[in-house]
Amino acid sequence: MKRVKLRFTSSIDVDFTDRETAIKQLDNIAVRGTRHPIVVYGPEGCGKTALLKQAKAVFEDHGYHVIYINPLAREAQEMLEYTPSIKNMVRELLKLLPEHYSRIVDAAIGLVGEVMRRFPKPRIALLLDDVFQDVGLDKAEIYVKALLNLIEYPSGDYDRVAILVVSSEGVSRDRIGRHRWAAIKEVWNLPREGLNTLYDKLPSSSKPPFEAVWSWTGGNPEYLARLLEAGWRIDSIIGDLARGRKLDLFASRLSREEIDVLRLMVEDPDHLIKRLKEREAQELERRLIELNLVIYMHDREPDAWIDDPPPERDPELGIGKYYAWQTPLHREAVRKALETTGSSVI
Ligand SMILES: Nc1ncnc2c1ncn2[C@@H]1O[C@H](COP(=O)(O)OP(=O)(O)OP(=O)(O)O)[C@@H](O)[C@H]1O
Ligand SMILES: [Mg+2]
Repeated sequence: MKRVKLRFTSSIDVDFTDRETAIKQLDNIAVRGTRHPIVVYGPEGCGKTALLKQAKAVFEDHGYHVIYINPLAREAQEMLEYTPSIKNMVRELLKLLPEHYSRIVDAAIGLVGEVMRRFPKPRIALLLDDVFQDVGLDKAEIYVKALLNLIEYPSGDYDRVAILVVSSEGVSRDRIGRHRWAAIKEVWNLPREGLNTLYDKLPSSSKPPFEAVWSWTGGNPEYLARLLEAGWRIDSIIGDLARGRKLDLFASRLSREEIDVLRLMVEDPDHLIKRLKEREAQELERRLIELNLVIYMHDREPDAWIDDPPPERDPELGIGKYYAWQTPLHREAVRKALETTGSSVI
C-alpha cells in the first residue's frame, strides 16, 4: 500500500509511518463499506488527520470517490480534498456556497447525495475531520444521524459507502454513544517503534536520546514535532499546553477534594475510578475530558480500536486501565499547575 506524504514541520515531510493494523482495518472497511458511520476518538495530535489522509489513498485504491473535509484546517485548500473523478461536481457545488450550504459539512453531505444520483452504483467515502466543533457539540448527534441517513436512505443506488469521522474532543462521545447511529472507536498515540522511525528521520543536531523523547511524548507525533521546533525545550511546550487551557485558573478553582484526587491521578490516572462515587470527582472527570487532558479508555478489545490498542497499563506514560493522560506532557502540565496552586495556598 502506498504511504501518503505528510507535512511534519515547516521544513520536514514524512511518509505515513507505522499503523500497519490501521491500514489493514481501513482495507477491510473499504471492502465492505460501513453500515454505520465510524466515529474515531483519540488524543489531540495522535495522528487522526494523518489517518484520514492515508484512508483517502486506501479508499481510492478500492475505486471509491473520496470526499475529505476539515473545517478547522489552517489552509483553505486543506479544508476540502477529493478524488479527481468528482472535480466538476465539486466545482458546481462550491459555486452554491454559501447561499445553499451554510457549512462545508452540509455541502459535503449534499455532495455525497449528488454522487449517488449521478454515478451508476458508485463507491463513495466521506471522511470528516474534526467536524463536531464546527457544527456545534450540541448538534453532533444530529449530524451523525444525518450521516447514517446517507447510508440507510440513499438518494441513489450505490455499491458501497464508507463514512469515517475523527475527533479529539471527548464531550460529544457520550452524546453519540447513547444512540445506535454510529460505531465508536478509539485510536491511540504511535507505538514505540512508530515514534522511533519518525525520530530517526529528524535532524540529529542536539537531538535528545530516543528514550527521553518517548517518555515525554508517549508516542504522540504532534508533540514530537513541537518539541523539535521548540529546540527540545520541554518547559516551553508544557508552558504552551498550560496557557492554552488556562491550567493555572483551572487549578486555582479546584476544591481541596478535587486537588487531592488530581494529585493522586498524576501518580495513577485510575485513581479517579475509585473516587467516582463522589460528586466532586464526577465534575473533575468531566472537566479533565473537556480540557482534552484525560481520556476514558473503555476497553482494549481490538475491535474497539483503530490500530493496536495501547497497553493495559503503563504507569510511566500515565496510561491506566480506565483512564489515561493524553500524553505525559499533559500530565506534567497538570502537575506543575498543582504545584503552583499548592504553594499559593500555603
Ligand atoms: N502515522 C504517522 N506517520 C507520520 N507522521 C504522522 C503520523 N501521524 C501523524 N503524523 C504527524 O504528526 C502530526 C500530528 O498529526 P495529526 O495532525 O494527524 O494529528 P491529529 O490527531 O489530527 O491532531 P489534532 O487533534 O490537533 O487534530 C502531523 O505533523 C502529522 O503529519
Ligand atoms: Mg487533526
